Amino acid sequence: MGGTLVMGRKTFESIGRPLPGRTTIIISRNEHYRQDDCEVCPSIEAALQLGNEIEKPIFVAGGGEIYRLALPIVDTVHISTIQTKVTGDIYFPDFPTRDFELAEEREYESNINYVYQRYEKSAK
Ligand SMILES: NC(=O)c1ccc[n+]([C@@H]2O[C@H](COP(=O)([O-])OP(=O)(O)OC[C@H]3O[C@@H](n4cnc5c(N)ncnc54)[C@H](OP(=O)(O)O)[C@@H]3O)[C@@H](O)[C@H]2O)c1
Repeated sequence: MGGTLVMGRKTFESIGRPLPGRTTIIISRNEHYRQDDCEVCPSIEAALQLGNEIEKPIFVAGGGEIYRLALPIVDTVHISTIQTKVTGDIYFPDFPTRDFELAEEREYESNINYVYQRYEKSAK
């Protein structure tokens, strides 16, 4: 809430609307792509540059294609792993890579229990 969300065009369409209280930047190769109350950028680099100009915390919100592009350039990864089995054909990239260290881990009880983890890019 209050930040900037960067997401792929397919993730945006799976949500179907901009989430309230946040700026939404959609990444698409289609230069004619538009959505009300959203920004559209042609690359992750352009999206992050625009996000920096907006000067709010930037969160990359998926999906699989965009996570793959973002993982080499982000500082922090927040992962909530819900304790259930689902079928699907879109995956988060292999993680953690050697570039990241676990900085925080908490278990939460909810309608579906989940584990929240925060990874930070390792100092090199
Ligand atoms: N469980 C979770 O935490 C989570 C989080 C987010 C999303 N999801 C799910 O993930 C699914 C979508 O993931 P996805 O991997 O199929 O798609 P995606 O990453 O959301 O979006 C892919 C689209 O992004 C654009 N794109 C990708 N690479 C690009 C590049 N290099 N330059 C410019 N544009 C680029 C293209 O849009 P155009 O085709 O318009 O050019 C591409 O079709 C949805 O089902 C969503 O619900 C799950």
